Amino acid sequence: MIWIVIIGLIVILPFLLVIFSGAPYVPTFTRDLEDIFKEVKLPQKAIVVDLGSGDGRLLLIAAQRGYTAIGYEINPILWLISVWRLRKYPNAHTYLRSLWKADVREADLVFTFLNKIYAGRLEKKLLAEMKPGSYFSSFGFAYGNLELIKKHRANHIYKL
Ligand SMILES: C[S@@+](CC[C@H](N)C(=O)[O-])C[C@H]1O[C@@H](n2cnc3c(N)ncnc32)[C@H](O)[C@@H]1O
Repeated sequence: MIWIVIIGLIVILPFLLVIFSGAPYVPTFTRDLEDIFKEVKLPQKAIVVDLGSGDGRLLLIAAQRGYTAIGYEINPILWLISVWRLRKYPNAHTYLRSLWKADVREADLVFTFLNKIYAGRLEKKLLAEMKPGSYFSSFGFAYGNLELIKKHRANHIYKL
């Protein structure tokens, strides 16, 4: 009985703890993720980064389009799922690492679906690190100091 409780905690805890570091796991609909790629003009060899990449669904869409897809995820269960999901795509990489340590300097498109309370901190990071002309897409929440180029359903797309 005690083992069932321990295993249950090991599975559930990562899903609870992320609430205090970014956002709980709520996957974005594939349709909404595909829409982003219709709205932005990316170079052929673009680098697409998902900050808090969940089960890797955005990375899969980006990798299938031939882009380099890079995800940062701190929930080890979701990270393992994304590693498995992306196993056939050498152009996709997921790191079991905090998004706050992500390198976004070379990114052409950064996507995130994070809790609004982290918007200010993330905005500072993006403004300091992302290159001019690159895109940032936030699902769910608006970012006040960035140039909004398109809002489509819950997707906010910005140009740096
Ligand atoms: C709302 S979900 C979005 C998942 C995925 N990007 C999608 O759109 O389907 C937020 C994700 O961020 C992850 N997360 C939360 N805090 C994080 C952090 N500090 N570093 C990396 N990932 C984090 C959660 O585990 C969760 O998978």
